[in-house]
Parts: sequence; structure tokens; C-alpha cells
Amino acid sequence: MADGSTIGRNRLDGKVAIVTGGGIGMGAATARVMAGYGARVVVADLNAEAGHSTIQSIIATGAEAHFVQCNVADEEQVKALVAETVSTFGRLDCAVNNAAITPDSLPIAEADMAAWDRVIDIDLRSVMLCMKYEIRQMLAQGGGGAVVNIGSVSSVRPQPGNSAYVAAKHGVVGLTKTGSLEYAPQGIRVNAVLPGAIDTPMLRGALDQTGYTEADFAPALSLFGRFGRPEEVGEASAWLCSDAASYITGHSLAVEAGYLTR
Ligand SMILES: NC(=O)c1ccc[n+]([C@@H]2O[C@H](COP(=O)([O-])OP(=O)(O)OC[C@H]3O[C@@H](n4cnc5c(N)ncnc54)[C@H](O)[C@@H]3O)[C@@H](O)[C@H]2O)c1
Repeated sequence: MADGSTIGRNRLDGKVAIVTGGGIGMGAATARVMAGYGARVVVADLNAEAGHSTIQSIIATGAEAHFVQCNVADEEQVKALVAETVSTFGRLDCAVNNAAITPDSLPIAEADMAAWDRVIDIDLRSVMLCMKYEIRQMLAQGGGGAVVNIGSVSSVRPQPGNSAYVAAKHGVVGLTKTGSLEYAPQGIRVNAVLPGAIDTPMLRGALDQTGYTEADFAPALSLFGRFGRPEEVGEASAWLCSDAASYITGHSLAVEAGYLTR
């Protein structure tokens, strides 16, 4: 801004964004938040019904959104996602690589390697694939852009029984740092957001399996004694994608109500 002010730089007006796993949960909330800040959003998800529902809720507000059915673990589909984004909205400025699945819960010595590989494919390899084609497009536009990879508190604090998820989420931080080093010269920022316990279908599914409730779990997982709202993570990702975060790259921003401080 001409006067050096940062006011308004958190807006995403004119930017085109991809949000993967945008059908439900945090991805859907992130897509809505980013559209609210002015972005034109491409929602990518395996689940077409959920993805269409997210874009309909965005279009109802007067913003622009487009759905692409995509398995983020499939290289050709990720390549096609970026191509369809460009053919629909003309360019790509930012991306939130959010899609992931929950882990199995076997200890290492009992691991089912097919299930392990599946988590690595969807939670880690997908982030690599998305970065590959998103950054390629940003470079083709002459550089500039922002990528946000969704990790987890499991990116820095392991949990027993979740080796694939923990390894994948640690890997997401490694990929984020590598990308930040490789593409800083071209003005492409690469950051990670590490959510804590956020109230989404993924978390509710995990609770249902154990029979525990939010009241049982939340005090141990949050200094606020409650689960996070998906929008609270979406705000962090949107801000990292915006020009307000212009001096931030290679960073992992925990959105976990202080869980990691204990
Ligand atoms: N909910 C939490 O407490 C929590 C905590 C830490 C990190 N996270 C991370 O946040 C992100 C979002 O989690 P969530 O809780 O919203 O999950 P969710 O299960 O509620 O939603 C995930 C979305 O991703 C989609 N998806 C799954 N596999 C896909 C694939 N192969 N290709 C395309 N789309 C696919 C699903 O259809 C769904 O719409 C994930 O990366 C997750 O690991 C969640």
C-alpha cells in the first residue's frame, strides 16, 4: 500500500485459491472464509455431493466458487485440478492443501502396511503432488503466491498408535520448509497450519470410536477447555495466504489453543 499501512492486506480480493478436502469440516470452513475475504475459490474433494454443497453456500453469498472432483493422492487428477482452476478462473494465487484421512490405530509392530501406505499417500504424498502442480503454475505466472499445508499438532507431538498419521504430518512440515527454501527467490511463500482438536466430522468420528465426549477430552487438548471451530483454522490459513503475511515463509502456525505449550 502506498502509505505502508497493512490495513486491508488480509483481504484476498482478486486472488484465486484452491482448497483441497473442501467438502466438509475444516476445508469447507476455509473455503467459505477465503471467499468471504474476496477470493475466487476452487473446492477440490473426492466427495462430489459435499463439494457442491460447499460451493453452493459460497455462491449464495455472491462470491465465486467452482468444484472439482479430485483424489489428491492421484498425480493426474491433481494436475487436472490445477489445469481446471486456471481454465475456470484464469490463474492460481494461493492454495490450502487440507485433504487428509484419519489414521488406523495399531502400534508399529502390528501395522497393516496397506493401511499405512494409504495414509501416507493421502496425507503426505498428496501434499507433495499438490505443491508440485500449484507451484509449477505460480512459476508459470511469473512467481508470487502462497501455499498453506495443513499439518496437525501430530506434526510436532507424536501419539502412540498413529505412526502413519504422525509420520505423514511430520513430513508435511518437512515439505513445507523445503518448499519455502526452494521458492522464496520467486516470491512463493510456503507455510503450514497445525490444527489442534477441531470440531469436524473427522474429530467426531474419532470420538464416536472411543465413546468419549467433548467434555472428557477438550480440557486435555485445549487451554480453553473446548474444541476449536473449523473457521478458527480457516482464518489462520486465509491470513497466511494474504499479503498481510508477506514476510512469513517456512513457518508452522499452531492453531491449538495452547495445547503444545504444556
Ligand atoms: N479435526 C481435527 O481435530 C484435526 C486436528 C489436526 C489436524 N487436522 C487436519 O485438518 C485437515 C482437515 O481435517 P478435517 O477434520 O476437516 O477432516 P474431515 O474428515 O472432516 O474432512 C476431510 C475432507 O477431505 C476429503 N478427502 C479425504 N480424502 C481425500 C482425497 N484422497 N482426495 C480429496 N479429498 C479427500 C473428504 O472427502 C472430506 O471432505 C486434515 O489435514 C486433518 O489431518 C484435523
